[in-house]
Amino acid sequence: MALIESVWTPAAPNIACALVDGRLMVRRTEDDLAPIALHPKWLRDRSTEPGQVDTTNFQRLFSPIDVRADLELVDASIEGPLLNVSFSDGHRARLDLVAIEQAVGWRTDAEAPPAPKPWTKPLPEFPYVDWNRITFDRDSEDLDAVIAFLDAFFRHGYVVLRNTPAAAGVVARVANRLGYLVGQNFGWVFDVEAKPSPTDLAYTSLALPAHTDEPYRMPVPGIQLLHCVANEAPGGDSTLVDGLAAALALEVAHPEWHAALTDTEVLWRYDMGTDTVVNRGHILEYDQHGQFRKIKVNTKLDEPIVRPGVDLDAFYAGRRWLSEWTNDPTHQVTFRLEPGDVMFMDNHRALHGRTAFDPTRGRRHLQGCYIEHDGPDTMYRLAIRRRRAKVCG
Ligand SMILES: [Fe+2]
Repeated sequence: MALIESVWTPAAPNIACALVDGRLMVRRTEDDLAPIALHPKWLRDRSTEPGQVDTTNFQRLFSPIDVRADLELVDASIEGPLLNVSFSDGHRARLDLVAIEQAVGWRTDAEAPPAPKPWTKPLPEFPYVDWNRITFDRDSEDLDAVIAFLDAFFRHGYVVLRNTPAAAGVVARVANRLGYLVGQNFGWVFDVEAKPSPTDLAYTSLALPAHTDEPYRMPVPGIQLLHCVANEAPGGDSTLVDGLAAALALEVAHPEWHAALTDTEVLWRYDMGTDTVVNRGHILEYDQHGQFRKIKVNTKLDEPIVRPGVDLDAFYAGRRWLSEWTNDPTHQVTFRLEPGDVMFMDNHRALHGRTAFDPTRGRRHLQGCYIEHDGPDTMYRLAIRRRRAKVCG
């Protein structure tokens, strides 16, 4: 393909571009980062010119087969905050340079929730959140309190919401205020109390070691809410520990054991005879860029998948190390739920547990349910947007 143009055009404060062999090369003018090639179809898909997207929902009105297979970029220029591009099918588009900077990772997403901050011992201040400032009604929420609540949750992986009504059924209302209630094999809402013939060890009075919930489900529940209706029995204190910090510590202490927990495929099976749920995956999950994604720990229902040539020594050493680390009281925060409290925890990161309790000497009744991460993520983004509008307005 012939060279069309190869002159850098530093017309915008941050980005310069050049068209080389039909590819748009962009680079930042203030540093020496390598230029990035933008594919013509990637640029074509970003067009919001009339007829290209629905004006209400911004969804594309064309599909891949509406775009010529041999589409090329024939011209490009920068004009203030816009990138003007012309394609070989005659289409022209004006693209937002800030959005492009964000898409290629040169600019942070101003509405994105904060990154997780690993913790290896109780935080200096317990992250309690007063529900009276969040409220069931968005119109009467305290915007700063909503942002502070979600900020703490995304950083630490848990908060406890205080002062919700201490009544059965409230947890579903709280869940639907913060996201969308997700049902599973125990129903929409489950009652955590000592029961005869328990369908889970949670429904006994036994101590529960640090664990994440339901690794046997597809998908694994994202966020758990545990609402305290009554907590009068001796014992039954709650524990939390940071699975992200545990994974980081394991990687430093024993990289080969850490690798075994990321590489060894595990099967989790919950099987009551009348109810069977099976999933497979890995105890530690990272994305292709090495970003931590998930930890799944339920040592009562897991088994590594045995295949020829798979040696499980490192896997079992790592699994044991993880159990010791996450159940070490110095790494855990231990607290007592009061009626009206809601533990709000990231089930892909925070491991929870409890001490044993005596159900003959008092009632202990928690109600639990799940939502997914997109609930708080959306809530955070919209809150940041509303606060910005308020400041600007
Ligand atoms: Fe649990």
